[in-house]
Amino acid sequence: MIESGPQSGVPSAAPRRGDSPLPDAPTVPRTPAGAAPAAPDAAVIATYVAGYQPEDAPLLAARQRAREVGVAALDEAAGAALRVLTALSGARHVVELGTGAGVSTLWLLKGLRPDGVLTSIDSEPEHQRLARQSLSEAGVHSGRVRLIAGRALEVLPRLSDSGYDLMLCDAAPAENLDYLPAALRLLRTGGIVVFARALVGGRVADASARGAEVLAARDLARAVREEPRLVPALLPVGAGLLIAVKQDAPAG
Ligand SMILES: C[S@@+](CC[C@H](N)C(=O)[O-])C[C@H]1O[C@@H](n2cnc3c(N)ncnc32)[C@H](O)[C@@H]1O
Repeated sequence: MIESGPQSGVPSAAPRRGDSPLPDAPTVPRTPAGAAPAAPDAAVIATYVAGYQPEDAPLLAARQRAREVGVAALDEAAGAALRVLTALSGARHVVELGTGAGVSTLWLLKGLRPDGVLTSIDSEPEHQRLARQSLSEAGVHSGRVRLIAGRALEVLPRLSDSGYDLMLCDAAPAENLDYLPAALRLLRTGGIVVFARALVGGRVADASARGAEVLAARDLARAVREEPRLVPALLPVGAGLLIAVKQDAPAG
């Protein structure tokens, strides 16, 4: 087999579309011809995935605000997945638990229909003040987002039955199991519930891990899987996204 490239003395073929790596692509070590390519480790893949859709200036600023107050914003890959899910569901009404400084809010808005409204709940008024700054910097019209300050479990009963196309749960992980019945009530048929950080940084997969957060995540994953009205999938995106589509009849 003749190898081409600068080392071999044989000129390379003209680059085709897709040959060149994305700007932030890490260099994957080359292997001898014929050998199975070495799989890059998970951290290298995560960096590549995160760089696939670089965040714009308002998102980077929101992320910086989150960092400054110690709020764990969703990572870029999870944000991009949220945008896809929102767009895919043709969402006009989205509810978010856990506004933080607005990183996930901005990603959700990117998938929301132009006439859509996002309702976002957070118990920390200071976080919502930062989110308001993030939204204004991104040029988001005030009518597009309804920020509600309060504890999720106290605010959720005030929201309309079947009034939402998508619900993101990223507030208090210990309350996720209690958000589930609320999601079933609030979502329309075909609506999507998303639980963020469902893999707890991968620790749920470690059989010896027994921390409260891990046990809660396992309980949640089981409850979602066993709920007959939900069609679930556990996605290894970022810290994990547990997503499920609501059906009106038991899922097949
Ligand atoms: C992980 S941060 C959310 C990050 C945000 N989703 C993002 O990606 O930028 C969790 C947020 O939930 C809020 N929170 C915690 N417990 C809550 C509760 N019981 N009800 C409502 N918000 C809560 C916190 O104040 C914090 O802003």
